[in-house]
Amino acid sequence: MKIVEHSFERFAPQLPDPIFGLMAQFQSDARPNKVNLGIGMYYNEAGELPVLRSVWLAKEFLKERNQPSRYLPMAGYSEYCCAARALVFGDDADTECIATIQTLGGTGALRIGAEVLKRHFPEAEVWVSDTGWDNHLTIFSNAGFSVRRYPYLDKGSYTVDFEAMYSCLERLPRGSIVLLHACCHNPTGADLSKAQWLHLAELVRDRGLLPFFDFAYQGFAVGIDEDAYAIRLMERQNMAFVVASSFSKNFSLYGERCGALFFCCQNERQAGLVQGQMEYAVRGSYSNPPLHGADIISYILHETGLCDIWRTEVTEMRERISGMRQCLLDVLSRNSARLDYYRLSGTRGMFIDSGLSPTEVDQLRSQLGIYLAPSGRLCLAGLNQANVEMVAEAILDIVDKRSI
Ligand SMILES: Cc1ncc(COP(=O)(O)O)c(C=O)c1O
Repeated sequence: MKIVEHSFERFAPQLPDPIFGLMAQFQSDARPNKVNLGIGMYYNEAGELPVLRSVWLAKEFLKERNQPSRYLPMAGYSEYCCAARALVFGDDADTECIATIQTLGGTGALRIGAEVLKRHFPEAEVWVSDTGWDNHLTIFSNAGFSVRRYPYLDKGSYTVDFEAMYSCLERLPRGSIVLLHACCHNPTGADLSKAQWLHLAELVRDRGLLPFFDFAYQGFAVGIDEDAYAIRLMERQNMAFVVASSFSKNFSLYGERCGALFFCCQNERQAGLVQGQMEYAVRGSYSNPPLHGADIISYILHETGLCDIWRTEVTEMRERISGMRQCLLDVLSRNSARLDYYRLSGTRGMFIDSGLSPTEVDQLRSQLGIYLAPSGRLCLAGLNQANVEMVAEAILDIVDKRSI
């Protein structure tokens, strides 16, 4: 019998990921004044990725404790799961109805959530915002879903075009899955108001839709509890929905891959069934999650003193980003004859739309070593007092030189 040879020649060439590809390019750029505004990472005023004081203290404690590295169960570290659930849903949530697992960052939560949903709702379509975070398309289509887009942004006012969004969602078939950014919409920074979330919750309930919240920026819009408004609203109304949380940004623990996946169910029995399915999906994927990052976060959230320090640090990060938004927009809106940058001042979170085209973004990078995402998205958390004016001037220079 002839053995068929497996040839890797058949593999399709894959373009580098637009964001991680850019990060690698940034790292190999030798120019001393280069500025990284591409990837969504928080840098402090000194331009460094911070080790939060709360994290440092927790690590010191854990080093001292010197525990062996055991396997965690499939659902992850149970104390971490409890603390993460309280952080997202608040202390008075009905925890018995919330199936919970620790995940590999927010991306891992989205992926496992998608897999579990596909297995049980094979016919459903997933709807994501237009524009949105491109990796949602990859994650949900890799899980086998067809992914469609609902309208989201009114570019004129740079706010959510709620009418257009609502009228699209109200026509979806029952059982459709709707991906929502709980706060700090990536990339626009335009979020729904409380009144709009209330309307949306009503619509979702009446039309039998399944919300899937992506919660990657808790604490970066208004506050840790305030940013969970939409999630807590739906939980208090006993609705069924899914949440993928990430602690990469708010703990500055990008490399530890800490996240959580929650299925908010209508009763305890359902929560038990979902819990089993989530754990089954984990077992067949990476078996169980890593311990170290979960140990750090769990320790911080359980120690009142440390938790207070961490909450203050999140406030400081949020306020620094907001200050940078203000500075950048001040220069841009005062001096741009072409674009109305002032309309972006109500946006929130790490990102802002520079208004630059992909070619202009290339130009900024090759000429000045300023790195933005190809879409023109700029990460405000990479700005500081030393570079903000220079970045603003560089953007203005390009925008105002455009031929009419
Ligand atoms: C909207 C959104 N969701 C999820 C994630 C993923 O977070 P993590 O790095 O924890 O996987 C990000 C990270 O940039 C994000 O912007």
